[in-house]
Amino acid sequence: MKAMRLADSGQSPALVEVNLPEFLPGPGQVLVRVAAAGVIPTELEWYPTTHLQSGERRTNAVPAHEFSGTVAALGDSVSDFALNQNVFGMNDWFSEGALAEFCLTEAYSLAPAPLTLNPIQAATVPISALTAWQGLFEHGHLHPGDRVLIHGAAGAVGLFAVQIAHLHGAHVIATASASDFGLLRQLGAQETIDYHTTRFENAIPQSVDIVFDTVGGDTLLRSYPLIKPGRFVVTVASDSESSQDPRVMHSFFIVKPHQRQLMEVAALIDTGKLRTFVHAVVPFAQAAAAYNGKIENGSGHGKVVVAVNPPTA
Ligand SMILES: NC(=O)c1ccc[n+]([C@@H]2O[C@H](COP(=O)([O-])OP(=O)(O)OC[C@H]3O[C@@H](n4cnc5c(N)ncnc54)[C@H](OP(=O)(O)O)[C@@H]3O)[C@@H](O)[C@H]2O)c1
Repeated sequence: MKAMRLADSGQSPALVEVNLPEFLPGPGQVLVRVAAAGVIPTELEWYPTTHLQSGERRTNAVPAHEFSGTVAALGDSVSDFALNQNVFGMNDWFSEGALAEFCLTEAYSLAPAPLTLNPIQAATVPISALTAWQGLFEHGHLHPGDRVLIHGAAGAVGLFAVQIAHLHGAHVIATASASDFGLLRQLGAQETIDYHTTRFENAIPQSVDIVFDTVGGDTLLRSYPLIKPGRFVVTVASDSESSQDPRVMHSFFIVKPHQRQLMEVAALIDTGKLRTFVHAVVPFAQAAAAYNGKIENGSGHGKVVVAVNPPTA
């Protein structure tokens, strides 16, 4: 099968096209024929991309761990999927990713794809939506009526966080560029703060129940004094992963695959309550461009997607 993997050059990460042997699904696994893969540019430098689970150095990783596609083969004891079914999901960070014709995943990491999305749109959903969902509910313990401050609200993760918090009855305060305020208000943000011109702590007179941070650094550190006693600061920003600050270490998490949550997200999408955004689509041969930030003429919001095996009909 064709795949894109990291060149083991010792230089800055570069993707090269290669042919790899096809995978065979083991018990509990599903082989997915990838239609499209969502891109997180920073992933090329994340710990699981460069390390094995044992801690040894990992080379030649195939990146992109969220995807849409069709079921190509089923391992023993997988009964909840059928061949050729449209699916979406994310697979384990330490396994080979979806920048390949086929991707192997555990069945519990997959769900039926939303009926109202095409495969390109579906590939933008799993990681961003699950990150927002797990950050708000599992790590932030969100309750209706909570005041939730979302940093990076107009980013791929932030747009889901704004919508999910709003749908759950939260009062959403969003930090973003002013050009994104219109969209954020449509999606449910009640307050918007321009991070270029305003220090958010000066614009928030009352404390908040949850800070959901996708920006990290100084933005995250300035957020801790705003939180109500006993409530939560949650961060997913890539630079938080290596922080030695105990507060940040406590606030950071990495999203995990979750079939039931994916099904709940798909239901919200199919009932028109949750929207996803495609910033740009690049063909497989140009996948490297999706990672180096050199995409021009994007929509301005959401994810860059690599079309791996785009449907022909
Ligand atoms: N831990 C995990 O499991 C996990 C999962 C997914 C993603 N991530 C990480 O989460 C982060 C965000 O990912 P993403 O895909 O949402 O990124 P993205 O789509 O690139 O969005 C980033 C957003 O942050 C905004 N921003 C930048 N500086 C800001 C500031 N100081 N205050 C408020 N907003 C600011 C940007 O606005 P402008 O464009 O207007 O500047 C942009 O809208 C990345 O570091 C990614 O690696 C982690």
